[in-house]
Amino acid sequence: EEIKIFAPATVANLSCGFDVLGCCLESIGDEMLLRKNTTGEIRITKISGQELPMEADKNVAGVAVRALLKELNSQQGFDIEIYKKIKAGSGIGSSAASSAGAVFAVNKLLNEPFSPEELIPFAMEGERLASGNAHADNVAPALLGGFNLIRSYEPLEVIHLPTPQDLRMVILHPLIEVKTMDSRSIIRQSISLQKAVKQWGNLGAFVSALYSNDYDLLGRSLKDEIVEPVRSILIPFFDELKIIARESGALGFGISGSGPSVFAMCKGEASAKQTGAAIQKYYQEKEIDFDLHLSKIG
Ligand code: HSE
Repeated sequence: EEIKIFAPATVANLSCGFDVLGCCLESIGDEMLLRKNTTGEIRITKISGQELPMEADKNVAGVAVRALLKELNSQQGFDIEIYKKIKAGSGIGSSAASSAGAVFAVNKLLNEPFSPEELIPFAMEGERLASGNAHADNVAPALLGGFNLIRSYEPLEVIHLPTPQDLRMVILHPLIEVKTMDSRSIIRQSISLQKAVKQWGNLGAFVSALYSNDYDLLGRSLKDEIVEPVRSILIPFFDELKIIARESGALGFGISGSGPSVFAMCKGEASAKQTGAAIQKYYQEKEIDFDLHLSKIG
């Protein structure tokens, strides 16, 4: 018995929602093949595309599957093949795709003892291994699709939000690797009340705009004075890219997850292409290697 699945990339934080907001990208992701084995062991039998640990306990997919099986008291073994298309340390949820994909597939092979929502905590264990923190803002959208808000971590409460149909994401990935663990360690642990007021105003407005299909409000809400000023230092020409994206018609622009990828949120395919071309041209002029993706919210 085996299953082949698509494990999507995701954009976490979306500027105003550090650790609590994320969305799923429809056309970027890994492939995984999982099958039951009779050894009672979880084995990572193949990884292509990236250098990642083959030892199940050191691989986010293995750790997430182990957490699921532990909850079921199951001794079932699985072989996991991972075909990575998402680069590790790119900021579009590479570890989340592997963790979420693995538990999604295992759940299917076990005839779905868990709902997609119930799989989130298992996938979060993969995130704990990868980044030192079990955040859900990548794994929740990877498992549930669309936009998701983590209302609370203890207890975990994830709210699935609507997706305005014309939204497109442009992802620009400067080809440098930023480990989430490192880019979390540089963030300050306390913020001023003044900044908090701005941030929760924007986050509330962003959620409201998803419900009302208010694209301009979405754009105005994509702001972050807390994490972005610190993390953007790691991203070549971040401020310049932001200006170019906005001038080319993007609704908003920010860091994808913990970076170094950046995202431009656009209304419609034509606008996304225009913004993609503009930021791409800038990096080409600066001779910075990059990947560029365009995607719907999936
Ligand atoms: N919310 C997490 C962070 C996402 O920003 O560190 C990591 O992809």
